[in-house]
Amino acid sequence: MMIQTGIFLLFVFLPVSPASLPLVINTWHFENATAAAWSALQAGSSPLDAAQAGCTRCEQEQCDGSVGFGGSPDERGETTLDAMIMNGDTMEVGAVANLRRVKNAVGVARAVMDYTDHTFLVGESASVFAEDMGFKSEDLTTNRSRDIFSQWLSQKCQPNYRKNVFPDPSMSCGPYTPKAKLHSGPRRKPGLIDLRSHDTIGMIVIGQNGQVAAATSTNGATNKVPGRVGDSPVAGAGAYADSSAGGAAATGSGDIMMRFLPSYLAVEMMRAGASPSAACKTAITRIKERYPDFFGALICANTTGGYGAACNKRPGFTEFPFMVSNAQTNGPVLQKVDCI
Ligand SMILES: *[C@@H]1O[C@H](CO)[C@@H](O)[C@H](O)[C@H]1NC(C)=O
Ligand SMILES: *[C@@H]1O[C@H](CO)[C@@H](O)[C@H](O)[C@H]1NC(C)=O
Ligand SMILES: *[C@@H]1O[C@H](CO)[C@@H](O)[C@H](O)[C@H]1NC(C)=O
Repeated sequence: MMIQTGIFLLFVFLPVSPASLPLVINTWHFENATAAAWSALQAGSSPLDAAQAGCTRCEQEQCDGSVGFGGSPDERGETTLDAMIMNGDTMEVGAVANLRRVKNAVGVARAVMDYTDHTFLVGESASVFAEDMGFKSEDLTTNRSRDIFSQWLSQKCQPNYRKNVFPDPSMSCGPYTPKAKLHSGPRRKPGLIDLRSHDTIGMIVIGQNGQVAAATSTNGATNKVPGRVGDSPVAGAGAYADSSAGGAAATGSGDIMMRFLPSYLAVEMMRAGASPSAACKTAITRIKERYPDFFGALICANTTGGYGAACNKRPGFTEFPFMVSNAQTNGPVLQKVDCI
């Protein structure tokens, strides 16, 4: 994980004033995304526009290969995108999943919010909607995603996300057929989840007057079953924003995390008086009780600019980096939280 400049390093472990508005906070060390959202705010953009600008920057930069085009090819080698944006003032949400051919997924999510009465469009139809709304249609495949895909094919499609099928998915590619009778063996550990394939960007922006916006963007899980939608575009799972309580955003094993609506839970905890840090911990703990080994992290922020984060500790993942920019730092600062 790269740290770009010396100045950046200097700031890494300096204590940052816990509450200062406006605030931008996002998952992972995606500092250019933070900077893009911050400069949008400085230029007078709304929190919603700033959150969109931040996630768009990550899509253009292909943050860690896990956001935007050219990453996480599915079982057929195609990159598809998931994104969501939420306005905590109005509780409007725009979301897209399995978006094909269009790079600016969070922009399409915003278009769903602005130009339809719907909340969530998916798949080929979402792509046609985007094209009709003027988004450019392009191939999302790159040499990199082609390489990832051909390497996966050459290692007999390992790892993959199939279970209870013939032929044995741990040794072969499909097509698969369901086993007639399921053996009630031990539950499969979600061990194949690779840290690198889940670096979704989730961003919360709190405006000067406590208005909350949240946005996410991802290209999903590498080698996913085509059609798979993770937590990122689902309101309450991948992110949530409510200007009367706060905002939260998640990253990690979306297939598991989305069953617990951790972003919604964290915002409700803040509404009930919890600090952002305690709210994040409660939501992570709720999942951990049922899936001790799950990979995941959450960021939380409240309406006065307090923020925190939490993550589930597992081998190779003991601390979670996230970015913050607020009136005190006046630019992106890397923060870390120890996992619980
Ligand atoms: C961040 O932005 C700078 C300046 O535009 C660029 O040089 C750098 O490569 C970007 N970082 C990443 C990780 O893309
Ligand atoms: C992609 O690979 C092809 C053939 O291997 C090569 O000709 C082309 O220059 C590559 N494109 C990029 C952007 O690296
Ligand atoms: C937000 O969180 C900070 C830090 O925990 C706390 O001091 C502040 O009281 C919280 N604000 C609200 C409105 O709960």
